[in-house]
Amino acid sequence: MRRIAVVPGSFDPITLGHMDVIARATKLFDEVHVVVVHNPDKHALLPIAQRVTLIEEAIEEAGLSENVVVASWSMGLLVDYCSDVGATVLIKGIRTQLDISYETPMAMVNRNLAGMETIFLMPEPGHSYVSSSLVRQVASLGGDVRPYVPHVVAQYLQGA
Ligand code: PNS
Repeated sequence: MRRIAVVPGSFDPITLGHMDVIARATKLFDEVHVVVVHNPDKHALLPIAQRVTLIEEAIEEAGLSENVVVASWSMGLLVDYCSDVGATVLIKGIRTQLDISYETPMAMVNRNLAGMETIFLMPEPGHSYVSSSLVRQVASLGGDVRPYVPHVVAQYLQGA
């Protein structure tokens, strides 16, 4: 049986921290779905389709295409996407205590809704302060985002 996991998020844009978690997930599962979901609590920078394209390019660039599927989901609950593709586990990256506080209720709700387990993975400590919101801010003010995002994302954000 193929072991399938879902890495969900806003990915607005995908960062090196996200990439680190996805790479770790590919070592644990046969198939990893990176799923872009609109988060109504966040003010979006990039359209969903653009985020998907950038993730596809970053995954290709990182040599992870073989067992990674990139998708978006706007049809309701994330657990319904998981059930559609046969995924049994959600994977989230945890950087700090703040992430644990933010992620714990979602993990509990997803477990209550559909018995979906969540596995938390820690990225490299060097990525622990990187966030999409920080990248959006640095990019919007004309700063260099190359230390924080995949090459293709930096190129896109900096209009190269
Ligand atoms: O990167 P984010 O914004 O922290 O990701 C949050 C996200 C998109 C994973 C979360 O909002 C989500 O799962 N949304 C889908 C709707 C859903 O299933 N909600 C109930 C469980 S939290």
